[in-house]
Amino acid sequence: MKIISIVGSRSEKGQTARAGQAFVKGARGAGHEVKEHYLPKMHIERCRQCENNGWGICRSEGKCIIEDDFAALVDGIRSADFAVFANPVYFGDLSESLKTFLDRLRRITRVEAATKGIAGKPAVGISVAGGGGGGAALCSLSMEKVLSTCGFKVVDLVPVRRQNLAVKLDILEMTGTHAADYAASKDE
Ligand SMILES: Cc1cc2nc3c(=O)[nH]c(=O)nc-3n(C[C@H](O)[C@H](O)[C@H](O)COP(=O)(O)O)c2cc1C
Repeated sequence: MKIISIVGSRSEKGQTARAGQAFVKGARGAGHEVKEHYLPKMHIERCRQCENNGWGICRSEGKCIIEDDFAALVDGIRSADFAVFANPVYFGDLSESLKTFLDRLRRITRVEAATKGIAGKPAVGISVAGGGGGGAALCSLSMEKVLSTCGFKVVDLVPVRRQNLAVKLDILEMTGTHAADYAASKDE
């Protein structure tokens, strides 16, 4: 399988990155191809709420008017078989970079043609509370809500606290190893 990893932290050596990389290690070990992206290093602007009614061409055309790295990253998701999102918990919620990206993704996926390659795509969400350790569960809820709204099939959510990072790294590596089983799992 082709897997896309999207990380909401700038640091490639921080706790969130380590959590995402543990999944990637397991996935690569199982023979999957993985591309990693660190959102704060990319140019992805916030939604401009283009028109007075709050919408824009996202609603009619399933595209965003802003010319930045958003469209290429969406294409990357479309061409992958599986997506993993690793997010640093900020204020018990999504980081600004992941929120900004998913805010725009949920808008374009209101148009059926734009859901191609996203609807039903298996996704795992990892939320890393690397400070006091609170808020990982709440952040996982936010992640589930927005990923589902975009159309992903959320196959797992892994809350991580600084205090249990070492244990969760093992679990995440195993999750990556079993990515194909997760993808094949049926809801019925
Ligand atoms: C604005 C902000 C809010 C944060 N809120 C929380 C929080 O609610 N709970 C928590 O455990 N850590 C919190 N942290 C710490 C982060 O989860 C994270 O561990 C830290 O920024 C290190 O980033 P890294 O994952 O890239 O190593 C916060 C950090 C920032 C910058």
